[in-house]
Amino acid sequence: MKSCIHADAPALAALHAGCFVGREAWGAEAMALMLRMPGGFGLWRPGAGFVLVRAIAGEAEILTLAVLPEARRQGLGQGLMAAALARAAARGAAAMLLEVATDNAPAQALYASLGFAKVGRRRRYYADGRDALVLRRELALIPPCAAAGR
Ligand SMILES: CC(C)(COP(=O)(O)OP(=O)(O)OC[C@H]1O[C@@H](n2cnc3c(N)ncnc32)[C@H](O)[C@@H]1OP(=O)(O)O)[C@@H](O)C(=O)NCCC(=O)NCCS
Repeated sequence: MKSCIHADAPALAALHAGCFVGREAWGAEAMALMLRMPGGFGLWRPGAGFVLVRAIAGEAEILTLAVLPEARRQGLGQGLMAAALARAAARGAAAMLLEVATDNAPAQALYASLGFAKVGRRRRYYADGRDALVLRRELALIPPCAAAGR
């Protein structure tokens, strides 16, 4: 898994568009902005998938997670999330939060397998009017060797 740098923003935007077909696409500027935010970081496998995270003030949030259709069900989403959890813990986050659409069964199954639990619901969270579930997971149990990226 590689760390994202600002120069990767156009490639990340292309991946996002290929993963969220028919949904709101995030352009290269938005990607660069998220990587520049205090505590923002990204991890990716070029040409396949990526995760963007913000870890700040003791808490982390998944900003987006995306794997291209042809690369799915091969463990990449899980690998990206595991690396994101470890990196966030290494940066001092005690918990990870994320939003997921109520009808996104694949993502909900992935997050459940990683120990995330529902802590809330946001009505009409997405541009198309769908609700989001808010999921949370504690990070305290991640060992230092995982946090080092191994
Ligand atoms: C959600 C997403 C990131 C999963 O990526 P992935 O690389 O396919 O996930 P993995 O292969 O690591 O799957 C890990 C586990 O998650 C669950 N899972 C993943 N996709 C699933 C599906 N379509 N149906 C049921 N369970 C699924 C399974 O438990 C799976 O383990 P298994 O393959 O051993 O059964 C991918 O489907 C995606 O990019 N979707 C579109 C964008 C999106 O919804 N992002 C999340 C926004 S919150």
